[in-house]
Amino acid sequence: MKALVLAGGSGTRMRPITHTSAKQLVPVANKPVLFYGLEAIAQAGITEVGIVVGDTGDDIREAVGDGSRLGVRATYIPQHAPLGLAHAVLIAREFLGDDDFVMYLGDNFIVGGISALVDAFRAERPDARILLTQVPDPTSFGVAELDAEGRVIGLEEKPSRPKSDLALVGVYLFGPAIHEAVRSIGPSRRGELEITQAIQWLIDNRSDVRATTIAGYWKDTGDVVDMLEVNRSVLEAVDRSVLGRVDEASEIIGRVRIDAGAQVRGSRIVGPVVIGSGAMISGSYIGPFTSVSENCRISDSEIEYSIVLRDSSITGVSRVQASLIGRNVEVTPAPRTPSAHRLVLGDHSKVQISP
Ligand code: DAU
Repeated sequence: MKALVLAGGSGTRMRPITHTSAKQLVPVANKPVLFYGLEAIAQAGITEVGIVVGDTGDDIREAVGDGSRLGVRATYIPQHAPLGLAHAVLIAREFLGDDDFVMYLGDNFIVGGISALVDAFRAERPDARILLTQVPDPTSFGVAELDAEGRVIGLEEKPSRPKSDLALVGVYLFGPAIHEAVRSIGPSRRGELEITQAIQWLIDNRSDVRATTIAGYWKDTGDVVDMLEVNRSVLEAVDRSVLGRVDEASEIIGRVRIDAGAQVRGSRIVGPVVIGSGAMISGSYIGPFTSVSENCRISDSEIEYSIVLRDSSITGVSRVQASLIGRNVEVTPAPRTPSAHRLVLGDHSKVQISP
């Protein structure tokens, strides 16, 4: 069995964190969301992984390399434009051959991995198995309709009037029959070859399509509240490991991971927290559910339930809460007089200021 991981897309989707980088590299507990997928694939015993890349291919290549660090062997498959998930299958034909494969969307996060699913697929070998999960607003997903026995009878991509609240999760298991399906469909209204439509083609042609409903799913939607929440749930499982330098005046409480090369001076850190290598924390409080990435500087500040991406600094600010701070950002206090806020914010930023 092989894996096809989709890490393409245009890279132009406008929101602060993915302005300049691939959405599959958004970090959760200091690790790109894509890495969780690749590790889950390796854990399921799959090592041959084709990674579909687009505009942001260089960033993805730089982060993943040959895949060996994550337990897989990566083959890059360039896609010249984001022409759809079924298009990605089409261009990966040579890599996939006639093998069964799992298709994994690189911006999806599945709690608990995929090993049980892959094992079941290997044993049963239907033409396709899709994963579904209940979502509050199905209109931005593929949506499945099931019959009374739980069989899939229809699929629709981003319907304005969804027939159920069961969204297609971005992990699909396929046998070789999918290749004829992706060749047989045409572009959708949004101009993409939709995998949803290819699976509908399989159903219409009496192929064996099965579904599993799961809980514990997250997709990078650009929603900060959601991102803080998935960061929290991953940090819940962090083990205590203090490899960085911590001075005597600091207090480290609970499950805190301080990576080698990080320094903590005169600070109090209450886990679960992760601090990346090269970070320097001094005279500060870092509270629960906070991820501080590599090379950040936090001094004389208080922060909790937040994500700080690499190379940023927070100096003399209390207290930062429920915040997502991008790369190379500087947060500093304003002078007391005149009492005014000075802001340099990128497009699509959001700030809340205490009166
Ligand atoms: O995440 C689940 C949803 O993913 C499903 O419910 C939908 O049925 C499915 O169509 C898909 O919807 P999205 O519109 O959210 O997909 P998105 O364009 O975000 O692409 C998903 C991933 O695949 C993302 O990591 C980018 C990558 N991609 C996307 C396209 C269209 C490619 O590598 N190539 C492409 O051509």
